[in-house]
Amino acid sequence: MLDNLPPAMFATLDTPSVLVDLDIAERNIHRFQSFANKAQITVRPHIKTHKLPDLAKAQIKAGAVGITCQKISEAEVMANAGLDDILITYNILSASKLDRLNRLASKIKLTVVADNLTVIEGLSAAFSNTTPLRVLVECDTGAGRCGVQTPEAACEIAQRINNTAGLMFGGLMTYPPTDREREVQQWLTDAQHACLNAGLQVDTISTGGTPGMWKADDVPVATEYRPGTYIYNDRSLVTRGTAKWDDCALTVLATVISTPTEKRAIIDAGSKVLTSDLLGMDGYGYVVDHPDLTIHALSEEHGIMLSKTPHQLSVGQRVRIIPNHACVVTNMMDRITLLRGKKIEGEEIVAARGCVT
Ligand SMILES: Cc1ncc(COP(=O)(O)O)c(C=O)c1O
Repeated sequence: MLDNLPPAMFATLDTPSVLVDLDIAERNIHRFQSFANKAQITVRPHIKTHKLPDLAKAQIKAGAVGITCQKISEAEVMANAGLDDILITYNILSASKLDRLNRLASKIKLTVVADNLTVIEGLSAAFSNTTPLRVLVECDTGAGRCGVQTPEAACEIAQRINNTAGLMFGGLMTYPPTDREREVQQWLTDAQHACLNAGLQVDTISTGGTPGMWKADDVPVATEYRPGTYIYNDRSLVTRGTAKWDDCALTVLATVISTPTEKRAIIDAGSKVLTSDLLGMDGYGYVVDHPDLTIHALSEEHGIMLSKTPHQLSVGQRVRIIPNHACVVTNMMDRITLLRGKKIEGEEIVAARGCVT
């Protein structure tokens, strides 16, 4: 279990603050990289979880082939920091974004996705006078978000990309449903065969998400895996059994600011730090070393903790919380504090924080 706060050391930190233990993050990176190496699948981590160029570089150093970003603004930050192989897993529309995409593509190896003709036309207009842009077809293999709906439709979009000026068909991409590996394997295999029968080479088949990462080898048609949250882990992944509490690298440090009753205590972290994400669970995080406490409700700057028995907390006491969803917490603070076990390493600006365009 994570040690709860050697007090003298943590007294120097203001609260609420977000702490990232680099020892744990690095262990998480290496653990999945070795699994993927054995399964002969390349790793392209999604950096939306940490939004930090230094951690993206650590992922590359460990063996990742490149990174994944959700938004152009994230990719711009990463490219400026020297990351040079980026997949953006998002349909890109609008003149200003296409203009930025064009500039980005002139600096790095860039791949994007598309699942409809409007996006393809926009990309083509922006890239018809430059080096062709590599495009993967986004496939909805059951998660019910973006993506073409059938393997046949994937092949049709692939052919359109292949026949469109300025674009180059690079393969298939999916954000898969959890625990449905067999269906995902079938869907992608059917789409791959349809493309091959149409004379198209399918270089990349990209899938991924932390909940399914230990079953990445159950989708052998995939060439590439894109885990994001695995670097930090969080309460939702521990609850699912994907990770253990000891694997959680990101915690929120908070101070008890009031103990109105013997079974209620209030902390200085509310929805502006922990966020309102429940991800199907009760409460807004796991209070380390206080399994009796639940973070029952949040207002913007207050976290309301309840206990079934008297809580024994005092005003001024600090607690460390493993949030429900680490990725959204990353986007809440300008800076994080880096730790190595019980040692504070320093502060780091969250370079791609707020990059949602
Ligand atoms: C397209 C895409 N790929 C990969 C990921 C990584 O998922 P996870 O954070 O579960 O590892 C996400 C998560 O939102 C995603 O949207």
